[in-house]
Amino acid sequence: MSNSLTQRLFPSGVILETLEDLSRAEPLTARELQLVSKAVPKRVDEFRAGRHCARHALRKLGIENFELLKGPNREPIWPAGVVGSISHSEKYAAAAVASSKVVKSLGIDIERAKPLADGLCHTIATPDEIRMVTTLPGDRPWDTLLFSAKESFYKAWFPLTRKVLEFHDVRVDIEPIAERFRIQILKEEYPPLNIIGRFVFTEDMIWTSATVQHCD
Ligand SMILES: CC(C)(COP(=O)(O)OP(=O)(O)OC[C@H]1O[C@@H](n2cnc3c(N)ncnc32)[C@H](O)[C@@H]1OP(=O)(O)O)[C@@H](O)C(=O)NCCC(=O)NCCS
Repeated sequence: MSNSLTQRLFPSGVILETLEDLSRAEPLTARELQLVSKAVPKRVDEFRAGRHCARHALRKLGIENFELLKGPNREPIWPAGVVGSISHSEKYAAAAVASSKVVKSLGIDIERAKPLADGLCHTIATPDEIRMVTTLPGDRPWDTLLFSAKESFYKAWFPLTRKVLEFHDVRVDIEPIAERFRIQILKEEYPPLNIIGRFVFTEDMIWTSATVQHCD
């Protein structure tokens, strides 16, 4: 699954590792374990599964046994010269990494392919986006895709800028046939970024990615 997913979600040079059964994840290091010492077992499992995927992905970049700590905003602290992102659902964990020479930043997100809970759409989507979602074809949970697109974008955005964004600060346009989405930052103080958003529906999941490319 990982190979075709990687190609559908990311430009070449990005490595994606996924794990389907979270209980198969390798142990955390002592310092990583410390980061979740007060967490409930489910959270420890997903944290370990994300780190497992990250370590396997980093190995493919030639970086062995990297201890992946986190910053004050929960963001993973990747090795120098590496950009990356982690996501987990109850069923899957995934980590994507790349050399910072290949892409400027990246984000990944996984959600269950089911509609958002009642009322959530208005929290995460602008009126324009809600209108856009209702015009999209097929029996797909486009509202959840919209949410996931914003989550993956935020994971790419934050390490670059260290600025918090609200859901209504960006506009997502979904291109269903191309399996892509466009993201526009609506706050004028931020310079435009060259972002590629992609998505994949698998049997019961939605996978989204946001890649910030270097400008030529
Ligand atoms: C950070 C956030 C996007 C994570 O998404 P989530 O659905 O809770 O969970 P996921 O499993 O998909 O991703 C969690 C992983 O994201 C990563 N992450 C968390 N905060 C991050 C940040 N500030 N920057 C980059 N990555 C971050 C972590 O690796 C985390 O896993 P870990 O704690 O096990 O290491 C979300 O919790 C959040 O804070 N959202 C609010 C901000 C937002 O999305 N705004 C939208 C504006 S467009």
